[in-house]
Amino acid sequence: MNVLVITESCFGNTARVAEAIATGLRSRNATVTVAAASSGPALDGVHLLILGAPTHNMGIPSPASRRQAREKGGQAPATGVAEWLEALPGDPGCRVVAFDTVTGTGFFSGSAAKSIEKRLRRRSVSVIARKSFLVTSTQGPLADGELDRAEQWGASLA
Ligand SMILES: Cc1cc2nc3c(=O)[nH]c(=O)nc-3n(C[C@H](O)[C@H](O)[C@H](O)COP(=O)(O)O)c2cc1C
Repeated sequence: MNVLVITESCFGNTARVAEAIATGLRSRNATVTVAAASSGPALDGVHLLILGAPTHNMGIPSPASRRQAREKGGQAPATGVAEWLEALPGDPGCRVVAFDTVTGTGFFSGSAAKSIEKRLRRRSVSVIARKSFLVTSTQGPLADGELDRAEQWGASLA
């Protein structure tokens, strides 16, 4: 199974989760590529697409929220998952999964993964699984056990 993990990260936490998911998938013999969203869509031969982003202002990062992240010391990319999705012509033609990182677990934390799901639903594309991973503060680190949880989730997706 060929898997493409497209991710965006300002402080490194979402990128770490993406790598842990990839490790889990590889343990089940999947072939996995992890790429920054700024690299643009390349879906040839991909069976499973995994999209992951940090939650910003309750949703998917925008140019404005990336600026805010930079002001807090983050290395936000110029473009991310939102722009990657915009550049995607129609249906990706494979199974799609979404994840995010969040600092809170309540309703008011929001979820970038939910925003990704909503954007895809507008194109009649279903997200088959969605998960949030907890960071302890804006800069991180990830809460205890989250990387293990990400690896296990990755294995379960294979
Ligand atoms: C501008 C900005 C807005 C944020 N808004 C939220 C939010 O609405 N809900 C939340 O749970 N976390 C929020 N956070 C915390 C991020 O989720 C956290 O920085 C991120 O998960 C870290 O991932 P990264 O290291 O990959 O950037 C925000 C962070 C920034 C920089």
